[in-house]
Amino acid sequence: MSINLIKAERNLPDEVVKLCKEFSKKNGLMMRMNMYSFMAASILNAPIEDDDYVIEIGTYHGFTAIFVARMLNYMGKNNKVVSIDPFDRLSGGVIGSHIKYMQNVNRQDLKEQCIAISSYSSEVASLLRGEIPFMIIDGGHKYENIKSDIELYLPKLKIGGIAYLHDNDEIRYPGITRAISELIRGNKKYNILMDDYYFIIERIS
Ligand SMILES: C[S@@+](CC[C@H](N)C(=O)[O-])C[C@H]1O[C@@H](n2cnc3c(N)ncnc32)[C@H](O)[C@@H]1O
Repeated sequence: MSINLIKAERNLPDEVVKLCKEFSKKNGLMMRMNMYSFMAASILNAPIEDDDYVIEIGTYHGFTAIFVARMLNYMGKNNKVVSIDPFDRLSGGVIGSHIKYMQNVNRQDLKEQCIAISSYSSEVASLLRGEIPFMIIDGGHKYENIKSDIELYLPKLKIGGIAYLHDNDEIRYPGITRAISELIRGNKKYNILMDDYYFIIERIS
């Protein structure tokens, strides 16, 4: 049976709601409160086992990676959160900072759990094994970037695994909306759990 994310988000435990509020205050420019709460509901429903790791494409300063790690800790888990970002190898647009990522991760004492790979997502996809229970796609926002992330990373989801694609906004990011429409909508492998600014899917076959 499919996950009811709206119901799950409405019934988040108080401690998780507090965590979502804390992070939306820190990272409100990138992620609003309900984006964190739907992400939290997704993580709570993802099939995360002990040896799994989760992936974030595009980490910026690490806030969302830290949020994911804190959610996992809340669930009694300490799976690695692997973030992929070329950081200052990029020359335009929103550019992440490895220094700020490390400062934020160290401040939260999460340097064992949060791992950054300084690379373009397309460069390292073949090095990362599959069977991923949860991933966030929020890296390059151009059509070719998101198309490549969908093609290279979604097949790495395990059955029941959940992917959270950020910035599904036709006006601001038409490339993201287009890639989602071409590659995910109507694709029988995926069940759409949330079709909004954040586009959340579950792999079903
Ligand atoms: C919108 S920010 C990510 C925000 C982050 N998820 C958060 O919640 O704070 C986009 C990030 O994607 C990174 N990026 C851009 N192109 C990329 C690519 N091809 N592969 C991986 N990351 C990329 C940028 O360096 C930037 O840090």
